[in-house]
Amino acid sequence: MTVLLHLDASPRRRSVSRDVGDAFVAGWQEVRPTGVRTYRDLTADPVPFIDEAWTELCDHVLREGITELDRLKEAVRTPAQAAAWAIVEPLLAELVAADVVLIATPMYNYSVPASLKSWLDQVTFPKMSLAGRRFVVASARGGSYAPGTPKAPYDHQERYLRDFLAGHFAVDDVTFINAELVNARIDPALAHLRDAHERSLAEALKSARELGRRYAQEAADE
Ligand SMILES: Cc1cc2nc3c(=O)[nH]c(=O)nc-3n(C[C@H](O)[C@H](O)[C@H](O)COP(=O)(O)O)c2cc1C
Repeated sequence: MTVLLHLDASPRRRSVSRDVGDAFVAGWQEVRPTGVRTYRDLTADPVPFIDEAWTELCDHVLREGITELDRLKEAVRTPAQAAAWAIVEPLLAELVAADVVLIATPMYNYSVPASLKSWLDQVTFPKMSLAGRRFVVASARGGSYAPGTPKAPYDHQERYLRDFLAGHFAVDDVTFINAELVNARIDPALAHLRDAHERSLAEALKSARELGRRYAQEAADE
């Protein structure tokens, strides 16, 4: 059974990144209408920041050389650590059970919003591999960071997530689908870019739906 974990990180209900992520899910469900999809809304149901007890779990795991995910709970030795573990355990279980992880997120401050960063902090233990999983990032951004644009070097969101997923989790199969120039919808100074935004969004929605269909098909073929 192939499992899709779907995360939303935008605080907006009507959100471009949610729409692009939903297009991936729609494509996925065309092929696998009864497939398993675990959904987590990181803003409606925020993941708390890691606390001191969480760092103690992390230090213990590192000190003892624990790398197996099902042994992480051995690090729990105090009530505060048990409380920290109670938060992280379901997050880890969802992540580890997933074959495909879909992250729908806005670009904030050239990177990821705190809602997503908090989830990443919680689920990241030392020397933890997620090799073999596929990640899809459906991103919405106010400007354009496409290759060749002046702001291209400022896209620390894609750079950060790619480097982190590869460097820490050994995940190289990461696809970004970016809907750009969203600010042209509301900023009068960017009105001349509205058509370019609409084209970017239409392309992102189409690509996301096709990718969802393809990933579900490839999983069904396995
Ligand atoms: C706090 C905040 C920071 C933002 N930072 C950036 C940024 O660095 N670069 C950018 O292009 N857009 C930035 N934006 C614009 C959002 O990326 C844009 O509104 C996007 O559509 C939000 O995605 P959503 O519609 O899924 O919420 C920012 C918006 C907010 C609210």
